[in-house]
Amino acid sequence: MRLLLGTVLAMLAGLAHAATVAISCGAVGRELELCREGAEAWAARSGHTVRLVSTPSSGTERLALYQQLLAARAPDIDVLQIDVVWPGILAPHLADLSAAARAVADEHLASLVRNNTVDGRLVALPWFVDLGLLYYRRDLLERHAARVPRTWPELTETAARIQRAERDAGNARLWGFVFQGRAYEGLTCNALEWLASHGAGALIDAQGRLDLRPAPAAAAMALAASWVGTISPRGVLNYAEEEARGLFQSGHAVFMRNWPYAWALLQDAASPVRGRVGIATLPAGPDGAPAAALGGQQLAVSRYSREPEAAASLALYLSGRAEQKRRAIAGGYHPTRPALYADPEVLAASPLFAVLGAALDDAVARPASVTGPAYNRVSFAFANAVHAALAGQSDAATSVRAFERQLRRIKRRADWAAPDRR
Ligand code: GLC
Repeated sequence: MRLLLGTVLAMLAGLAHAATVAISCGAVGRELELCREGAEAWAARSGHTVRLVSTPSSGTERLALYQQLLAARAPDIDVLQIDVVWPGILAPHLADLSAAARAVADEHLASLVRNNTVDGRLVALPWFVDLGLLYYRRDLLERHAARVPRTWPELTETAARIQRAERDAGNARLWGFVFQGRAYEGLTCNALEWLASHGAGALIDAQGRLDLRPAPAAAAMALAASWVGTISPRGVLNYAEEEARGLFQSGHAVFMRNWPYAWALLQDAASPVRGRVGIATLPAGPDGAPAAALGGQQLAVSRYSREPEAAASLALYLSGRAEQKRRAIAGGYHPTRPALYADPEVLAASPLFAVLGAALDDAVARPASVTGPAYNRVSFAFANAVHAALAGQSDAATSVRAFERQLRRIKRRADWAAPDRR
């Protein structure tokens, strides 16, 4: 009885302090809509109010906005959707959620909890996992008797062949392959997949040493540069996720590299390619193994929030089991809770979950934890070097050499982890 009374009083106290909590969500695909539904469900249960702040869909631009707000200690956003590669960059501005999440932290993938723990502080709760995937037009592959490519050279050849044949037959606007080629975080992910799958390393290893083999790196970049203007429209140099999806979904591309979120949208009732798309793990290098960039988003609470408790409660609710399950079924967002991968309703919702299981074995992480606050400089230098090669402003070998010099300089200044002994 006393316990019940306590609960009722606590609820009343909670209601008496109804808070307004602002949350920033991404806007790629259905992100904003799903975030709004989840946040409003939390508000209805808790008696608090939520305000959605939409932020740029380019991760690079969103990070710049956050850095500006947080550096000014602005209380405008209480809960922030942050990229898996940002905890090391934003940690000083984020609240420690260890106590609030004590009961649930070990329900999430341990690697993500580690990723989000900076200097012993849990600065964000895992929300969903992303992994680079290959989308293909099943109908076009069948029509041209092609199999799903297993290597990048094979993808290049198949894309060119189908593009040529289709154009000859009057399908004038068809392209072979679309990906994220703008100079931003998304290109870092794509290019890391090309390099790692060519056996060129993952830029920086877990000990903080340089992990970049110039010859296969240049080969990978040169192959990608050969796509631009041939199997990929030149516009790909300015494509992020949604531009690539737009072209593929309207039926104008054979292959696309994208994250899992695209699947549910491609299968939407209004989608021109509904029922004609397949998904697979990304191709391997000529003699390497496939590599899929590991991405994903987390929920953090700003240290400058005026409503830290309500904010933590919202982050916990959204990253909770029921909400992650709802997002998995409605939007194909991949849970950070292993238990949900055994949930029959989740598995039945999308064939992605099975492909993702296989692709997870090939996952390659960006060197964010080890480089900490310097990650952004590493990624920026990499994306720009790759972009120069794709745009034909510099040849691939020169781009790799210039990037390697920059990487050494960044490393010297940032002085992360173990010294480079190469
Ligand atoms: C997705 C991923 C994120 C990645 C970004 C690149 O949002 O979740 O990890 O950095 O795409 O554009």
